[in-house]
Amino acid sequence: MSVEIDHSGKVALVTGSGAGIGREIARWMARAGAAVAVNDVRTEEADETVALIADEGGTASAFVADLRNDDAIHQLVADVTAWGGRLDIAVNNVGMMAGRGTARFVDMDGAFWRDIVDQNLVLTALSGRAEALVMMEQGGGVIINVSSGETTRPSPMMSSYAAAKAAINHLTWSMAVELGPHNIRVNAIAPGTTLTEEVKKAFPLGHYDAIVAATPLQRETLPEELGRLSVYLASDLARCTTGQLILADAGAFLSRTRPPNLGQDAS
Ligand SMILES: NC(=O)c1ccc[n+]([C@@H]2O[C@H](COP(=O)([O-])OP(=O)(O)OC[C@H]3O[C@@H](n4cnc5c(N)ncnc54)[C@H](O)[C@@H]3O)[C@@H](O)[C@H]2O)c1
Repeated sequence: MSVEIDHSGKVALVTGSGAGIGREIARWMARAGAAVAVNDVRTEEADETVALIADEGGTASAFVADLRNDDAIHQLVADVTAWGGRLDIAVNNVGMMAGRGTARFVDMDGAFWRDIVDQNLVLTALSGRAEALVMMEQGGGVIINVSSGETTRPSPMMSSYAAAKAAINHLTWSMAVELGPHNIRVNAIAPGTTLTEEVKKAFPLGHYDAIVAATPLQRETLPEELGRLSVYLASDLARCTTGQLILADAGAFLSRTRPPNLGQDAS
């Protein structure tokens, strides 16, 4: 006997899937058979993800939109639904990635805070709202919000990002409670430090090595691991799971007992 996940016939939207984690989630959704709507604010990157999926025989289309604009979110969901005829899976992946939103707590002014909360919490909530309205109408669906491993333990320089992502965890509970009766499951996934192109630029190598060394599995999270997890969460194998935060962080949340030894040999 074997167990397979088949998302054939489903339509999946992945926001911010022109690069990094979102791109790999989009590719894995397509590998599982879903028709994938690739959203990104950057045209070339969105087209590249679509081409990668097409190269593997999958179905995808690019939907360029900047989700910082509330109307653009509703237009995106309307366009995707018109394209695919329905919306079964939505992954709200756009967020301020770890690295760019870093600052000392005492240095962050109101504008900084509002920007981080807007780009993480508000944008995710409004995306979920637009998606839920379509899913309620069609009788169900699955929403996955992208949180962060930073919500499980405090790190210096990350207070606004971690707080905004932690609010996404609570938002996921609330959405699960309100949308469950409409047959919509809502979960959150939390990447650990994931070596995307942006993270490579943001973190000095020694810092990154120390983070990896502090994980029980002694390894980093790969972008594709969020793809595998999302494919599972969107499937019937997870049909009784809603309102959960699922970590893909090599056990980093346990590292409070094994503090990183930044910039030094962590052995
Ligand atoms: N990389 C990590 O270590 C890490 C760890 C924890 C959580 N996360 C979260 O994972 C998600 C993806 O992060 P990533 O590291 O893959 O980022 P990334 O920068 O590699 O990719 C993000 C993509 O989203 C697009 N994008 C950004 N703002 C947008 C907007 N307003 N509208 C449409 N598209 C937009 C970008 O153009 C880019 O292609 C984020 O929510 C981030 O907070 C990342």
